[in-house]
This record gives sequence, C-alpha cells and structure tokens, in this order.
Amino acid sequence: MIKNIGVLTSGGDSPGMNAAARAVVRTVLYEGGKVWGIYDGYRGLLDEKMEELNSRSVADILQRGGTFLGTARCKRFMTPEGRMEAYENMKKRGIEGLVVIGGDGSLRGASKLSAETGVPIVGLPGTIDNDVWGTDYTIGCDTAANTIIDAINKLRDTASAHSRIAVVEVMGRRCGWLATLAGIAGGAEVVLIPEREFNLDDVCANLVKSYENGRRYSLVVVAEGVGSGIDIGKYIEEKTQMDVRVSVLGHIQRGGSPTVQDRVKASQLGEKAALALMAGQTDVVFGFNKGKVVAINLHDAITNKKPLDPEYIELADMLV
Ligand code: ADP
Ligand code: F6P
Repeated sequence: MIKNIGVLTSGGDSPGMNAAARAVVRTVLYEGGKVWGIYDGYRGLLDEKMEELNSRSVADILQRGGTFLGTARCKRFMTPEGRMEAYENMKKRGIEGLVVIGGDGSLRGASKLSAETGVPIVGLPGTIDNDVWGTDYTIGCDTAANTIIDAINKLRDTASAHSRIAVVEVMGRRCGWLATLAGIAGGAEVVLIPEREFNLDDVCANLVKSYENGRRYSLVVVAEGVGSGIDIGKYIEEKTQMDVRVSVLGHIQRGGSPTVQDRVKASQLGEKAALALMAGQTDVVFGFNKGKVVAINLHDAITNKKPLDPEYIELADMLV
C-alpha cells in the first residue's frame, strides 16, 4: 500500500480542480496516508514548492474556481533531465505516488514521468475543453459551458434589440465541444467547429436568407479552433452587409464558482484516484462513461483523439 502521495494541478486551470484536489487530500488522510500539495504544477516539483497538507489545508476551497495549488506550463519538465530532477525531489520527501490533475498535455507529461522513473501516477482530466479521450466528462467543462450560456443570453438581448448578427468566439483549443454545447443550449443559428468542414460564403448566404424570411437577429458561435472570431465577424459583415458585433469570451470561461456537476463529479474522481493510487494502481486516468466512473489506460487517453459526438452536431443543426 502506498501511503505517501503528492497531488498537483497542471496546464490550463479549470473550475472543479479544487474539488478534485480536496477529495484526493481528504481521502488519503482518511485512509491513514500522508499527502503533499505541489504548487504550480510540474514547476513546483522542480522548484521544490511543496508542503504536507492536512484536512484544514483544503477547507473553504470547494466553491472557488481556479486551483488553490496554482498551476503553470513548465518547459523544463518537457525534458528527460527535468523529469528526473522532479523525481529526485519527490524521493527526498518520500513521495511514492502522484495524482496529476490537468489536460492532455499534463497527462502526456505524467505518462513520461511514470515510464522514465516507474513512479506510480494516476491522472484526472482537468480541462474546460472536454477533449480527453475515453471520458465523457472533464473537470470544469460544465461550469465553462454555463459561463458561455450566461454570456450568450446577454448577447441575444442586445442583438435582438439592434437586429444584429452576434458572433461569439469560445475556447476549446482544437475541440468543438464547448461551441457545440453553447450552440445547442444558446439556440445559435450557426456553429463553426474544427470537427466539421464549412463554407463561410454559404453561411453568409443562409444568414441573409433567414433575414429575408423575417429573422430579426442571429447568433453565430465560433470555436477558437477554427480561427479568429473577429476575422470571421468582419468577413460576415462584408459579405452580408449587415450589422455584426463580435464577442471573444476569453478567460472568463476558465474561472467562476464550479457548478454542482463539476463539484460532485470532480470529488468522485478525486476519491477514486486516491484510493486507486494507494492500492498501487498506476498509469490510469479516472473519468466518466455514461455516468459511471471508469479507469482509462493513460497511454490510450493521450494517444487517441476524442471524437465529438455526431449526435450533438446533428442536434445543433436540427434546432436552428
Ligand atoms: P494542458 O495540461 O492543459 O493540456 P499543457 O499542454 O500546457 O496544458 O501541459 C501542461 C504541462 O504539462 C506543460 O507545461 C509541461 O510541463 C507538461 N507537458 C505537456 N506536454 C508534455 C509532453 N509531451 N512531455 C512532457 N511534458 C509535457
Ligand atoms: O485548455 C484550456 C484552454 O483554456 C483552452 O481552451 C485555450 O485554448 C487555452 O487553454 C488558453 O491557454 P492560456 O491560458 O495559456 O492562454
């Protein structure tokens, strides 16, 4: 049984990371183990920014967005020497296993550290992008989707008032999940995502036609993975000769108090990860499949591209 565990959050922060880390800490302590908080992701392992945590250390964080452990994108950890140095710093504190909460990049780093050092590692999918293979859900995607919808409701009000086309650019890196969900829940006329080809001239022609048929305003959701919302907005304005206003939501999508879904699911995943690691399991990522917690092989999770559910794309088109 592994009793001395480290936990870190890495890469882009996401609402719910605190809930997951809190569950890891409290589960390890409940099982009689010791747990170290590693600050600022993999950089904390290299800069030796880590401290032993107790139950009070994770009090009053469940409701907060971001991550109390901090996070970073760490170039040094991308090198085998950097990873070995990180491992040496873990050994100095007797840390026998690691829980890594982060996106596909952080999980890639975890896989290399485990392969190169043999240290047991369990991952949790912490990213608003919902782009980790093998899981229906990633920590923070629900809160981010709700933040987007809150903005879209407001944009609809002003677009309707002025009879304009509102173009809204949302995050997601190379994945169109956030945009598709925003399109369905926000009632968008157009959803542009990397997973599907589109012709902007056809999009413009359809927008003009819908106006001619009496539509007062339109909402166009653009996944950042297809390009700049500002450029696309300019193109639509030139082509349609209609009033277009562009909103790039940016990092408000990363913050905010996590939803019930993100708090509960992240807590479930945190508990499972801690128990599995203490039991000696390694090279797995815990996620959800059809509502159930599942263990996904880490190598599979980082080498496969998560497809966007075609039913969602079809639904977004159907409901226009
Ligand atoms: P995310 O985890 O949100 O996808 P990044 O892709 O920036 O974010 O990854 C976060 C950190 O994980 C990087 O700064 C780096 O330290 C580590 N990492 C990412 N990709 C790799 C890789 N291929 N090999 C080793 N470490 C990696
Ligand atoms: O992966 C999460 C994410 O928010 C992506 O949606 C976005 O492309 C990227 O991170 C932004 O990264 P940064 O915070 O470094 O600008």
